[in-house]
Amino acid sequence: MKRSPVSWSLLWMGCTGLFLLADSPAPVKSHHILGVFVNVHRSQLMVHLAVCRALLQRGHHLTLVTTLPLEEQEVRGNVSHILIPWEQPTVEGSSSSDLLLRLQRMFRRLEHSGDLLDLPEWKRFLSNPPNTPFDLLLLGYHFNDHLLGVAAHFNCPVAIVSTQQPTGFVNSLMGNPEERSYVPQPYDGHQRSGISARVFGIWEKFIEILARRVLARIYSLHFPEPRYPSFETMRRSVVLALSNHHMISEGPIAPLLPSMVDVGGIVLEQQRKKTPLEISAGNRSLIIFSLGTRFTWRKSTAELVQTFTKAFSRFPDYDIYWTYDGPNGSAISLDYPHLKVAKWWPQSQLLQSGRTRLFITHGGKGSLSEALFYGVPMLGLPLIGDQRANLQRMHSKNWGLTLSTYSRNLTHLELAKAISRMISNSSYGETILKASQMYRDRPMNSSDLATYWIEYIVRHKGAKNLYNPARQLNMIEYHCIDIYLIVYGFLILTIAILRKVNRLL
Ligand SMILES: *[C@@H]1O[C@H](CO)[C@@H](O)[C@H](O)[C@H]1NC(C)=O
Ligand SMILES: *[C@@H]1O[C@H](CO)[C@@H](O)[C@H](O)[C@H]1NC(C)=O
Ligand SMILES: *[C@@H]1O[C@H](CO)[C@@H](O)[C@H](O)[C@H]1NC(C)=O
Ligand SMILES: *[C@@H]1O[C@H](CO)[C@@H](O)[C@H](O)[C@H]1NC(C)=O
Ligand SMILES: *[C@@H]1O[C@H](CO)[C@@H](O)[C@H](O)[C@H]1NC(C)=O
Ligand SMILES: *[C@@H]1O[C@H](CO)[C@@H](O)[C@H](O)[C@H]1NC(C)=O
Repeated sequence: MKRSPVSWSLLWMGCTGLFLLADSPAPVKSHHILGVFVNVHRSQLMVHLAVCRALLQRGHHLTLVTTLPLEEQEVRGNVSHILIPWEQPTVEGSSSSDLLLRLQRMFRRLEHSGDLLDLPEWKRFLSNPPNTPFDLLLLGYHFNDHLLGVAAHFNCPVAIVSTQQPTGFVNSLMGNPEERSYVPQPYDGHQRSGISARVFGIWEKFIEILARRVLARIYSLHFPEPRYPSFETMRRSVVLALSNHHMISEGPIAPLLPSMVDVGGIVLEQQRKKTPLEISAGNRSLIIFSLGTRFTWRKSTAELVQTFTKAFSRFPDYDIYWTYDGPNGSAISLDYPHLKVAKWWPQSQLLQSGRTRLFITHGGKGSLSEALFYGVPMLGLPLIGDQRANLQRMHSKNWGLTLSTYSRNLTHLELAKAISRMISNSSYGETILKASQMYRDRPMNSSDLATYWIEYIVRHKGAKNLYNPARQLNMIEYHCIDIYLIVYGFLILTIAILRKVNRLL
């Protein structure tokens, strides 16, 4: 029988249709995934839960172990939650600027991070095998390599979720090449490059080796050989690292293994789906002021509150949304009606309202990505840790200004000057809007990307093909130190012999 061109094309369309159906993501086999997100801060947990939500939406079954309680709306679907209330005991000692003291504190904290594994709740979790075996462990990674023992215990592959740009610790875990000479570290306040960055890198490797020894000790206490594989074997077994970062738009550009996947913006793209909230009627411009969840106004001085109130009182044309948990909040609003003071504001909805002219922030990674996602310029007031470095990067990209003064002795004049400079100059808004378009320009959104790679690992039984063989090498082999020694040793020997011969002649 001869087919007409029309029927051929119909047949062709039918076939491609079938392929499209077979390829469509909808019904997948439901996997059972164990998420362990313990001893993390709330802002880190938000990233971990975003990955979980993406998995739940695909119909997977999740068992989550957390030390923080989950709110009802945070995760929905087929999820079992094991809450192990625990808080890392704080180590006393002044928040000294002395490097050695700070290191000492850090190590003492690290020693105590294994205390969680002694709790009866934790022991119960380990001793109760799940009804359906776990297909994968998703570990919220934060100086807790000893928890890789959980994957050994349940005999499943393990992927980690880190909440920032891959640091030296994640790189060495995954076997990713470290290019210190041109890749500044996210927490390095000086954003070093060149020779000083290399020296810093060597210093950091030294710290890492010490930290790893502490973690290895905790591991072998709770997951002893020969019943469990060794600590280093488990470290080498991590198959995937998801990072809450988007290298090509946020920088710095660095080599990245295929087993390290950037899922930056995963929290924000899921929040965006909620309908924007109408906060206040009218079309007044907004300023948002929040110093993050780690800062509390309850412990701050009345002068600091005064500084901000005085500065803000100079901008009556703006509605200023101030996240404030201290005393006399309503008194401030009474005195200045344009100051909206509350313990909590729907920050992402305010940012996406299109009316926000300025975001005054402490420069936490989450807030920075949020401002970038919605293209809102920032005024930075760094408080601790990596925030200074984050804000310096933000400043150098011209997305806003940073007040270098530590916010505790900031004057209201200084603050008001910075605010008026920001709102009178549109160049910050224009620059960050362009950056925002680039940030969102991706082949696939982060929720889909994360689930794709997690399903990939389960589909391919641990995806051993993703491993970098460099992880099997030790430091000497990796840096070819033995080869250099032989080559240079031979050269020196030759020169020595030649000189001897020369002298004899
Ligand atoms: C949740 O997942 C488990 C394991 O896959 C399955 O047995 C159970 O029926 C699921 N529950 C619901 C409500 O879908
Ligand atoms: C991600 O992209 C997919 C496909 O375009 C879409 O169905 C899904 O809703 C997106 N997810 C989010 C959180 O935006
Ligand atoms: C804001 O709204 C008022 C009245 O509601 C209107 O007169 C004014 O033009 C609007 N301003 C802008 C910038 O849209
Ligand atoms: C709060 O108000 C009370 C009484 O009005 C006052 O005594 C107190 O100093 C105020 N506290 C702060 C932090 O402003
Ligand atoms: C801010 O405080 C620091 C340390 O407490 C002090 O050295 C500095 O002089 C202060 N700056 C101003 C402008 O008061
Ligand atoms: C606005 O800010 C940019 C960047 O800091 C600067 O180059 C420019 O001169 C400023 N424009 C005005 C009008 O102040």
